[in-house]
Amino acid sequence: MNKVTISAPGKLMLFGEHAVVYDHPCIATAVNQKMSATVELSDKPDFQLNAQDVKIKDYKKPLSQLGKGEIPKNVKFAEIAVKNFFEKFNLNNGIKIETHSDFSSQMGFGSSSAVTVCIIKALDQLFNTNLTNKEIFDLSYKTVLEVQGKGSGFDIAVSIYGGTIYFQTGGKKIEPLKTPQLPLIVGYSGTKADTVTLMKSVIKKFADNPKRLQEIYNEIETIVKKGKQAIENSNWQQSGQLMNENQKLLEELGVSTPKLNAMIKAALANGAYGAKLSGAGGGDCMIAFVPADKLKSVENAITKTGGKIIDVIN
Ligand code: PMV
Repeated sequence: MNKVTISAPGKLMLFGEHAVVYDHPCIATAVNQKMSATVELSDKPDFQLNAQDVKIKDYKKPLSQLGKGEIPKNVKFAEIAVKNFFEKFNLNNGIKIETHSDFSSQMGFGSSSAVTVCIIKALDQLFNTNLTNKEIFDLSYKTVLEVQGKGSGFDIAVSIYGGTIYFQTGGKKIEPLKTPQLPLIVGYSGTKADTVTLMKSVIKKFADNPKRLQEIYNEIETIVKKGKQAIENSNWQQSGQLMNENQKLLEELGVSTPKLNAMIKAALANGAYGAKLSGAGGGDCMIAFVPADKLKSVENAITKTGGKIIDVIN
């Protein structure tokens, strides 16, 4: 075998963003939209990448330079993933990668993490290294930390395990949850958020009041734990209530935006059980749990605020 294609789902954060970076749990879920990577062994001593969705065409680098020098932003995750895999197994093989995404990298569905997972999984199959899911997680997480410096790794875990998971920082806990189909609606705000900038803005905002920041993270943890039970019991009313409480705390962290707030307000005014932003904030998507008979009216209300409904249910 000298060519493998792997796909991995994108993600949404149901409860616990930001706190999860600092050793608290979160709950995240996979979306039906996927990222895929075809990885091929090559005779040429190069790393080659084509990633049309992010405008990378015929990128080429000698293997001796892998991971070194200036790496274009949209190449970083793929190149560092290959470098880390090769380092772990002492390999040095010509490699050609082509990626494709069902979703725009602008939406905050975790395209960088999903592509990292696809590549590590594909290399694992090509080189028969028999990695466990946890080992694939660890190698992918190492890659993400190397590229972006900080992050909990929840998005990697969702790309590997799929479904809905209860997760703790760095993969200390990755627990797949048994849930029926979630009554979930997703609205895209139209702007892209930069996760690292948002994480830094939270630290800056609370530089003078670290005690309150800690309290907020603890309150978020309580919501996550209650959310786990509510979701496992299919108690959407309570799950929605908890989403609203989580959103209030995210607003206090300063990561919501007027556009996200308007979309959330529209969802609630039209019968959603609850709604919140999903992910770092500053843009990307909001989510809502919605009773079946209110689906259309909530979707219309979100659209009226200028949001775009994204179909994500498996
Ligand atoms: O920006 P996103 O959707 O990748 O979500 C980030 C969530 C954070 O908790 C802020 C960061 C993280 O790595 O968990």
